[in-house]
Amino acid sequence: MCQSTWHDFLRGLPKCEHHVHLEGCLTPELIFQLAEKNNVQLPDPKSEPAYESIQTLTARYGHFSSLDDFLHFYFIGMSVLNQESDFADLAWAYFLKAHADGVHHAEVFFDPQVHQDRGIPYETIVAGFVAGCKRAETELGLSTRLILCFVRHLPVESAKKTYQDILDSRHFESDIIHGLGWSSTEVGPPKDMYREIYASASERGVRLTAHAGEEGDPTYISTALELGATRIDHGIRLVEDPVLMERIAKEGVLLTVCPLSNVQLKCVKTVAEVPIRKFLDAGVKFSINSDDPAYFGGYILDNYCAVHEAFGLSVAEWRTIAENSVSESWIGDERKAELYKSIEVHVAKFAELA
Ligand code: HPA
Ligand code: ZN
Repeated sequence: MCQSTWHDFLRGLPKCEHHVHLEGCLTPELIFQLAEKNNVQLPDPKSEPAYESIQTLTARYGHFSSLDDFLHFYFIGMSVLNQESDFADLAWAYFLKAHADGVHHAEVFFDPQVHQDRGIPYETIVAGFVAGCKRAETELGLSTRLILCFVRHLPVESAKKTYQDILDSRHFESDIIHGLGWSSTEVGPPKDMYREIYASASERGVRLTAHAGEEGDPTYISTALELGATRIDHGIRLVEDPVLMERIAKEGVLLTVCPLSNVQLKCVKTVAEVPIRKFLDAGVKFSINSDDPAYFGGYILDNYCAVHEAFGLSVAEWRTIAENSVSESWIGDERKAELYKSIEVHVAKFAELA
């Protein structure tokens, strides 16, 4: 953990989180607890020894070999969520942690298709997560945005059904669904599988993001941009294409970087290999995020601290990161002005570090 004054600086630095999967906040404790409450059968430890106990599951999480290896456990974990209150409680647990880590604004992902696939109605999932978001806004003063993610391991027809659910419930118009993203297996399914959905959503003025350039090469990023994404989740392999990197810097496309996730999923060996310095030098905007904190051993502050330990950034550089996180958040100018102000006030308190 970083030195104590720096730790205080990083903890209190007003943060925006743009890349966290609410289902990725399900801890092993909560998985076992909800499985019992909801009568959900977890895998038999004879065939999947990780599910012997909370301890064995936690230990297994320390040895993911790839994105797909992680996703196997992530989708099993999600299967314990049944009631609206399960979704609400999960979101609330995340917001409490985020608030303690200095998050002022959070844009959170959820994967309805996977729940719908096992018979949970779209309305139940959304109502639960919305309740968690509302509670965070009222009780913690956070601003929140809900981003629905399509999952690339399921057929595109499944995504089209969920997209129709959004349209039928008028959740774009009511701003209940603030944006769309895609996630899950990157390499394998067609890069442009959501072309039709993204074209339709673009026409409606819906904000679009996409997981790309995590395991996949930079063409996954350029395809996402071609389909209308204005933000890229992960995007660390962007450094392999200097021309695309220049374009992304020029267009102000935000990368939502998740350093501890990248290490845990073996995209990089250490946090020092995440191209933080290259992005800063090239003027590429990025935010630092937790992705699936219950699986990767750290929430957002742990990611900030890991970056600080690896790169020893200056106060001015941290301020740039914090301000870019605000400027590219999907919020109005008034809220942005509040966040800029709180960053300014916080930085002024730590003049000794500058
Ligand atoms: N990548 C792709 N899909 C995901 C991830 C990720 O890091 N986390 C949860 N779903
Ligand atoms: Zn992710």
